[in-house]
Amino acid sequence: MIVSLRNTMDLGLPASPKSLAAASPDAGAPILTATSLRYAYRGIPATTDVAFTVANGSITALIGSNGAGKTTTVKMIAGALRPDAGRIMFDGRDITRLPAHEVVDLGITLVPEGRLVFAGMTVRENLQIGATAPRAAADAARNMERIFALFPRLAERRDQYAGTMSGGEQQMLAIGRGLMANPRLLILDEPSLGLSPKIVQNIFDLIKRLHAGGISILLVEQNVNQALAIAQHAFVLEKGRVVKSGSGKALLNDPAVREAFLGGL
Ligand SMILES: Nc1ncnc2c1ncn2[C@@H]1O[C@H](COP(=O)(O)OP(=O)(O)O)[C@@H](O)[C@H]1O
Ligand SMILES: [Mg+2]
Repeated sequence: MIVSLRNTMDLGLPASPKSLAAASPDAGAPILTATSLRYAYRGIPATTDVAFTVANGSITALIGSNGAGKTTTVKMIAGALRPDAGRIMFDGRDITRLPAHEVVDLGITLVPEGRLVFAGMTVRENLQIGATAPRAAADAARNMERIFALFPRLAERRDQYAGTMSGGEQQMLAIGRGLMANPRLLILDEPSLGLSPKIVQNIFDLIKRLHAGGISILLVEQNVNQALAIAQHAFVLEKGRVVKSGSGKALLNDPAVREAFLGGL
Protein backbone atom coordinates (compact mmCIF):
# COMPACT_ATOMS: atom_id res chain seq x y z
CA MET A 1 0.00 0.00 0.00
CA ILE A 2 1.31 3.40 -0.93
CA VAL A 3 0.67 6.24 1.44
CA SER A 4 1.66 9.70 0.39
CA LEU A 5 3.99 11.07 3.03
CA ARG A 6 3.18 14.63 2.03
CA ASN A 7 -0.51 14.07 2.60
CA THR A 8 -0.16 12.15 5.82
CA MET A 9 2.02 14.89 7.26
CA ASP A 10 -0.79 17.41 6.99
CA LEU A 11 -2.41 16.04 10.11
CA GLY A 12 0.84 14.79 11.49
CA LEU A 13 0.18 11.17 10.57
CA PRO A 14 3.31 9.05 10.66
CA ALA A 15 4.38 7.28 7.48
CA SER A 16 3.95 3.75 8.77
CA PRO A 17 0.99 2.60 10.82
CA LYS A 18 1.11 0.38 13.84
CA SER A 19 -1.39 -2.43 13.85
CA LEU A 20 -4.32 -1.70 16.15
CA ALA A 21 -6.00 -5.05 15.68
CA ALA A 22 -4.76 -8.55 15.21
CA ALA A 23 -4.93 -9.73 11.62
CA SER A 24 -8.01 -11.86 11.06
CA PRO A 25 -7.33 -15.50 10.25
CA ASP A 26 -10.49 -15.98 8.17
CA ALA A 27 -10.25 -12.93 5.94
CA GLY A 28 -12.98 -12.86 3.33
CA ALA A 29 -15.78 -14.62 5.24
CA PRO A 30 -18.54 -12.28 6.35
CA ILE A 31 -17.90 -10.72 9.73
CA LEU A 32 -21.22 -8.87 9.53
CA THR A 33 -24.43 -9.90 7.80
CA ALA A 34 -27.51 -7.66 7.78
CA THR A 35 -30.78 -9.10 6.46
CA SER A 36 -34.04 -7.28 5.65
CA LEU A 37 -33.47 -4.48 8.10
CA ARG A 38 -36.46 -2.28 8.60
CA TYR A 39 -36.83 0.82 10.72
CA ALA A 40 -39.51 3.51 10.95
CA TYR A 41 -39.33 6.78 12.84
CA ARG A 42 -42.74 7.21 14.44
CA GLY A 43 -44.42 5.22 11.70
CA ILE A 44 -42.50 6.76 8.82
CA PRO A 45 -40.25 4.16 7.20
CA ALA A 46 -36.57 5.08 6.91
CA THR A 47 -35.35 1.67 5.80
CA THR A 48 -37.55 -1.07 4.40
CA ASP A 49 -35.20 -3.77 3.19
CA VAL A 50 -31.53 -3.30 3.91
CA ALA A 51 -29.37 -6.34 3.31
CA PHE A 52 -25.59 -6.42 3.00
CA THR A 53 -22.49 -8.13 4.27
CA VAL A 54 -19.08 -6.96 5.34
CA ALA A 55 -16.33 -9.42 4.52
CA ASN A 56 -13.84 -9.92 7.31
CA GLY A 57 -10.80 -7.75 6.75
CA SER A 58 -12.46 -5.68 4.04
CA ILE A 59 -13.34 -2.08 3.43
CA THR A 60 -17.01 -2.14 2.52
CA ALA A 61 -18.72 1.05 1.36
CA LEU A 62 -22.34 2.00 1.83
CA ILE A 63 -23.34 4.78 -0.54
CA GLY A 64 -26.57 6.55 -1.31
CA SER A 65 -28.15 9.98 -1.55
CA ASN A 66 -29.14 12.10 1.41
CA GLY A 67 -32.02 10.49 3.25
CA ALA A 68 -31.45 7.03 1.70
CA GLY A 69 -31.21 5.45 5.16
CA LYS A 70 -27.44 5.07 5.62
CA THR A 71 -27.25 6.58 9.11
CA THR A 72 -30.36 4.71 10.24
CA THR A 73 -28.72 1.50 9.02
CA VAL A 74 -25.44 1.99 10.85
CA LYS A 75 -27.28 3.03 14.02
CA MET A 76 -29.15 -0.27 13.89
CA ILE A 77 -25.88 -2.15 13.49
CA ALA A 78 -24.37 -0.29 16.45
CA GLY A 79 -27.38 -0.96 18.67
CA ALA A 80 -28.37 2.71 18.87
CA LEU A 81 -31.68 1.91 17.12
CA ARG A 82 -33.52 -1.37 17.43
CA PRO A 83 -34.73 -2.70 14.04
CA ASP A 84 -38.46 -3.24 13.58
CA ALA A 85 -37.63 -6.29 11.48
CA GLY A 86 -34.64 -8.11 10.10
CA ARG A 87 -31.49 -9.61 11.53
CA ILE A 88 -27.92 -8.61 12.20
CA MET A 89 -25.27 -11.29 12.62
CA PHE A 90 -21.77 -10.43 13.78
CA ASP A 91 -19.09 -13.07 13.83
CA GLY A 92 -21.67 -15.86 13.94
CA ARG A 93 -23.74 -14.23 16.69
CA ASP A 94 -27.19 -12.67 16.48
CA ILE A 95 -26.76 -9.09 17.72
CA THR A 96 -30.07 -7.72 16.41
CA ARG A 97 -31.47 -6.84 19.82
CA LEU A 98 -28.33 -6.14 21.79
CA PRO A 99 -27.95 -2.74 23.45
CA ALA A 100 -25.20 -0.45 22.17
CA HIS A 101 -22.75 -1.09 25.01
CA GLU A 102 -22.87 -4.85 24.39
CA VAL A 103 -22.33 -4.33 20.67
CA VAL A 104 -19.26 -2.21 21.43
CA ASP A 105 -18.00 -4.89 23.74
CA LEU A 106 -18.28 -7.49 20.98
CA GLY A 107 -16.04 -5.34 18.81
CA ILE A 108 -18.21 -3.01 16.70
CA THR A 109 -17.59 0.70 17.00
CA LEU A 110 -19.54 3.44 15.22
CA VAL A 111 -17.91 6.81 14.66
CA PRO A 112 -21.10 8.83 14.14
CA GLU A 113 -21.58 11.53 11.54
CA GLY A 114 -20.79 15.07 12.56
CA ARG A 115 -17.55 14.34 14.50
CA LEU A 116 -19.17 14.56 17.89
CA VAL A 117 -16.27 15.32 20.19
CA PHE A 118 -16.75 16.86 23.61
CA ALA A 119 -15.62 20.43 23.04
CA GLY A 120 -15.04 21.22 26.70
CA MET A 121 -12.93 18.15 27.32
CA THR A 122 -9.30 17.59 26.42
CA VAL A 123 -8.07 15.27 23.71
CA ARG A 124 -7.00 12.76 26.33
CA GLU A 125 -10.37 12.89 28.12
CA ASN A 126 -12.21 12.43 24.84
CA LEU A 127 -10.10 9.38 24.06
CA GLN A 128 -10.63 7.96 27.53
CA ILE A 129 -14.39 7.97 26.96
CA GLY A 130 -13.88 5.58 24.05
CA ALA A 131 -12.40 2.98 26.37
CA THR A 132 -15.26 2.43 28.79
CA ALA A 133 -16.22 -0.98 27.35
CA PRO A 134 -14.79 -3.90 29.33
CA ARG A 135 -13.23 -5.05 26.05
CA ALA A 136 -11.08 -1.94 26.00
CA ALA A 137 -10.74 -0.70 29.57
CA ALA A 138 -7.80 -2.91 30.47
CA ASP A 139 -5.91 -1.87 27.34
CA ALA A 140 -6.76 1.84 27.56
CA ALA A 141 -3.29 3.14 28.36
CA ARG A 142 -1.63 1.02 25.66
CA ASN A 143 -4.30 1.89 23.10
CA MET A 144 -3.95 5.58 23.82
CA GLU A 145 -0.23 5.39 23.16
CA ARG A 146 -0.89 3.56 19.87
CA ILE A 147 -3.40 6.21 18.87
CA PHE A 148 -0.94 8.96 19.73
CA ALA A 149 1.62 7.15 17.57
CA LEU A 150 -0.93 7.02 14.74
CA PHE A 151 -1.92 10.68 15.19
CA PRO A 152 1.08 12.69 16.39
CA ARG A 153 -1.03 15.81 16.10
CA LEU A 154 -3.34 14.48 18.78
CA ALA A 155 -0.33 13.53 20.90
CA GLU A 156 0.97 17.09 20.72
CA ARG A 157 -2.42 18.36 21.74
CA ARG A 158 -3.34 15.78 24.33
CA ASP A 159 -4.13 18.40 26.98
CA GLN A 160 -5.85 20.83 24.61
CA TYR A 161 -9.62 21.27 24.63
CA ALA A 162 -11.18 19.46 21.68
CA GLY A 163 -13.36 22.46 20.86
CA THR A 164 -10.29 24.53 19.99
CA MET A 165 -9.08 22.14 17.28
CA SER A 166 -9.70 22.26 13.52
CA GLY A 167 -12.47 20.22 11.88
CA GLY A 168 -9.94 17.72 10.52
CA GLU A 169 -8.29 17.30 13.91
CA GLN A 170 -11.69 16.81 15.56
CA GLN A 171 -12.53 14.11 13.01
CA MET A 172 -9.21 12.39 13.75
CA LEU A 173 -10.07 12.61 17.47
CA ALA A 174 -13.52 11.12 16.84
CA ILE A 175 -11.90 8.23 14.95
CA GLY A 176 -9.24 7.89 17.65
CA ARG A 177 -11.96 7.67 20.28
CA GLY A 178 -13.60 4.90 18.23
CA LEU A 179 -10.29 3.05 18.08
CA MET A 180 -9.97 3.20 21.87
CA ALA A 181 -12.71 0.55 22.01
CA ASN A 182 -10.37 -1.80 20.15
CA PRO A 183 -12.89 -2.57 17.39
CA ARG A 184 -12.80 -5.48 14.98
CA LEU A 185 -15.35 -3.66 12.82
CA LEU A 186 -15.09 0.12 12.62
CA ILE A 187 -18.09 1.92 11.13
CA LEU A 188 -17.42 5.42 9.86
CA ASP A 189 -20.47 7.56 9.05
CA GLU A 190 -19.48 10.30 6.58
CA PRO A 191 -16.00 10.88 8.00
CA SER A 192 -14.93 13.28 5.26
CA LEU A 193 -18.04 15.47 5.22
CA GLY A 194 -17.30 19.19 5.32
CA LEU A 195 -13.52 18.86 5.34
CA SER A 196 -11.08 20.46 2.93
CA PRO A 197 -9.80 18.31 0.03
CA LYS A 198 -6.39 17.95 1.64
CA ILE A 199 -7.88 16.74 4.92
CA VAL A 200 -10.28 14.45 3.06
CA GLN A 201 -7.20 12.85 1.54
CA ASN A 202 -5.75 12.39 5.03
CA ILE A 203 -8.93 10.67 6.17
CA PHE A 204 -8.91 8.26 3.22
CA ASP A 205 -5.22 7.51 3.75
CA LEU A 206 -5.97 6.80 7.40
CA ILE A 207 -8.83 4.45 6.52
CA LYS A 208 -6.53 2.49 4.21
CA ARG A 209 -3.93 2.21 6.94
CA LEU A 210 -6.41 1.06 9.59
CA HIS A 211 -7.60 -1.55 7.11
CA ALA A 212 -4.02 -2.63 6.47
CA GLY A 213 -3.67 -3.00 10.25
CA GLY A 214 -6.40 -5.66 10.24
CA ILE A 215 -9.59 -3.75 11.11
CA SER A 216 -12.70 -4.43 9.01
CA ILE A 217 -14.28 -1.17 7.90
CA LEU A 218 -17.81 -0.19 6.95
CA LEU A 219 -17.58 3.20 5.29
CA VAL A 220 -20.58 5.45 4.71
CA GLU A 221 -19.59 8.22 2.34
CA GLN A 222 -20.92 11.02 0.17
CA ASN A 223 -17.50 11.14 -1.42
CA VAL A 224 -18.52 8.26 -3.64
CA ASN A 225 -15.56 8.44 -5.98
CA GLN A 226 -12.95 7.99 -3.26
CA ALA A 227 -15.02 5.55 -1.23
CA LEU A 228 -15.48 3.20 -4.21
CA ALA A 229 -11.81 3.56 -5.08
CA ILE A 230 -10.71 2.06 -1.74
CA ALA A 231 -13.61 -0.34 -1.09
CA GLN A 232 -13.35 -4.01 -1.99
CA HIS A 233 -17.12 -4.18 -2.00
CA ALA A 234 -19.92 -1.61 -1.99
CA PHE A 235 -23.67 -1.42 -1.58
CA VAL A 236 -25.96 1.26 -2.96
CA LEU A 237 -28.86 2.31 -0.75
CA GLU A 238 -31.87 4.01 -2.29
CA LYS A 239 -35.02 4.98 -0.42
CA GLY A 240 -34.35 2.55 2.39
CA ARG A 241 -33.36 -0.46 0.26
CA VAL A 242 -30.14 -1.89 -1.05
CA VAL A 243 -30.62 -1.68 -4.80
CA LYS A 244 -27.19 -2.59 -6.09
CA SER A 245 -23.90 -4.09 -4.99
CA GLY A 246 -20.58 -4.99 -6.49
CA SER A 247 -16.87 -4.46 -6.16
CA GLY A 248 -15.87 -0.85 -5.60
CA LYS A 249 -14.24 -0.86 -9.00
CA ALA A 250 -17.30 -2.29 -10.77
CA LEU A 251 -19.60 0.31 -9.23
CA LEU A 252 -17.14 3.06 -10.05
CA ASN A 253 -17.54 2.06 -13.70
CA ASP A 254 -21.30 1.48 -13.51
CA PRO A 255 -23.10 4.04 -15.70
CA ALA A 256 -26.13 4.26 -13.36
CA VAL A 257 -23.89 4.86 -10.34
CA ARG A 258 -21.89 7.44 -12.25
CA GLU A 259 -25.08 9.14 -13.34
CA ALA A 260 -26.55 9.20 -9.82
CA PHE A 261 -23.49 10.08 -7.77
CA LEU A 262 -20.65 11.19 -9.97
CA GLY A 263 -22.31 13.71 -12.25
CA GLY A 264 -22.42 11.17 -15.05
CA LEU A 265 -18.76 11.75 -15.89
N1 LIG B 1 -34.51 11.14 14.16
C1 LIG B 1 -35.31 11.07 13.09
N2 LIG B 1 -36.65 11.28 13.19
C2 LIG B 1 -37.45 11.17 12.11
N3 LIG B 1 -37.02 10.85 10.86
C3 LIG B 1 -35.70 10.65 10.70
C4 LIG B 1 -34.79 10.74 11.80
N4 LIG B 1 -33.54 10.47 11.33
C5 LIG B 1 -33.67 10.23 10.00
N5 LIG B 1 -34.95 10.34 9.64
C6 LIG B 1 -35.49 10.10 8.27
O1 LIG B 1 -35.15 8.79 7.87
C7 LIG B 1 -34.74 8.76 6.51
C8 LIG B 1 -33.34 8.20 6.41
O2 LIG B 1 -32.44 9.10 7.06
P1 LIG B 1 -30.92 8.75 7.30
O3 LIG B 1 -30.81 7.36 7.79
O4 LIG B 1 -30.36 9.82 8.17
O5 LIG B 1 -30.33 8.83 5.82
P2 LIG B 1 -28.86 9.12 5.26
O6 LIG B 1 -27.90 8.88 6.38
O7 LIG B 1 -28.70 8.17 4.13
O8 LIG B 1 -28.84 10.54 4.80
C9 LIG B 1 -34.87 10.18 6.00
O9 LIG B 1 -36.12 10.31 5.37
C10 LIG B 1 -34.82 11.01 7.25
O10 LIG B 1 -35.54 12.21 7.11
MG1 LIG C 1 -26.46 10.11 7.26
